Amino acid sequence: MLRDRSTTVPRPSGQTATGATAVAHPNIALIKYWGKRDERLILPCTDSLSMTLDVFPTTTRVRLDPDAEQDEVTLNGDRATGEAGRRITTFLELVRELSGLEHRAVVDTRNTVPTGAGLASSASGFAALAVAAAAAYGIDLDATALSRLARRGSGSASRSVFGGFAVWHAGPDTGTAAEADLGSYAEPVPTADIDPALVIAVVNAGPKAVSSREAMRRTVDTSPLYRPWADSSKQDLADMRTALGRGDLEAVGEIAERNALGMHATMLAARPAVRYLSPATVAVLDRVLQLRQDSVPAYATMDAGPNVKVLCRRADAPRVADAVRDAVPDGTVLVAGPGRGAHLLGGDG
Ligand code: DP6
Repeated sequence: MLRDRSTTVPRPSGQTATGATAVAHPNIALIKYWGKRDERLILPCTDSLSMTLDVFPTTTRVRLDPDAEQDEVTLNGDRATGEAGRRITTFLELVRELSGLEHRAVVDTRNTVPTGAGLASSASGFAALAVAAAAAYGIDLDATALSRLARRGSGSASRSVFGGFAVWHAGPDTGTAAEADLGSYAEPVPTADIDPALVIAVVNAGPKAVSSREAMRRTVDTSPLYRPWADSSKQDLADMRTALGRGDLEAVGEIAERNALGMHATMLAARPAVRYLSPATVAVLDRVLQLRQDSVPAYATMDAGPNVKVLCRRADAPRVADAVRDAVPDGTVLVAGPGRGAHLLGGDG
């Protein structure tokens, strides 16, 4: 992979070329990624922009085992089977190709976020795996190359390589697959200080009925609203960059909310429809509207699940969290701020 000007991920001493541990946090998109133009390379149809959180870290250890015949993957203490295990093994194949090493790996990953509930567990999961696996296999990648690599595990993981706000470039539409691959990575977004918080309302932590991968595919293939949303997303991104640049939290929130509602509209128009939003989601949305009527800037965004993330100023977060708790008394509400990008932990071997 090509190197460029971006910063390298720090590699604390104590990491050997055969074992490494990394931590990454989920990110929440304010301009959504929804739809791929290339499923194998995970190239998105549109650019997206997110905030990496300071909650729900994933910690992943990768150790090479020269004697093993297969990768051994443990997810929260249990052997990973089925689709989850396959995705990790496929990802390790890619790392082996890049490194020229054939050793199988022992992977131990611990998620503190509910898996598959639309809370971005795959973003933190593959960002941590990319950073740990690259180090364990001895490949020296800068942050841009790590973002590209994480993308191959899960698109949104490309953004969790970076802390704070990050934009993921879809990459060029013309040219070869290699050129498209090279052009599709995330990078930090310059922002004025908006001191943001995301109040996260977990209204249902169970796994979703339709995976985001399948739902995206179905939306792109069948929804008459998909193209108009993808087109309008370009303007949303441009407006979002401007709003972040001038530190205008109200504008950031308005753009994020319209972009997310538009994404859910594309799914509702898919055939058959995909509906992630539940009555509890709508109860939170009503409360967010009420907060705005009471002059508290608060804006909602939802991903592939019923859970709601409410963007507000950090100073307003306690009031927003109380209002959200009141709307969904059975839910769990917590406050997140901007967090660090994926990084190696020291002292592993
Ligand atoms: C709704 O990154 O989980 O959260 O690339 O297929 O692994 P794959 O999808 P994934 O999709 C995330 C979709 C989203 C919006 C977003 O995070 O931008």
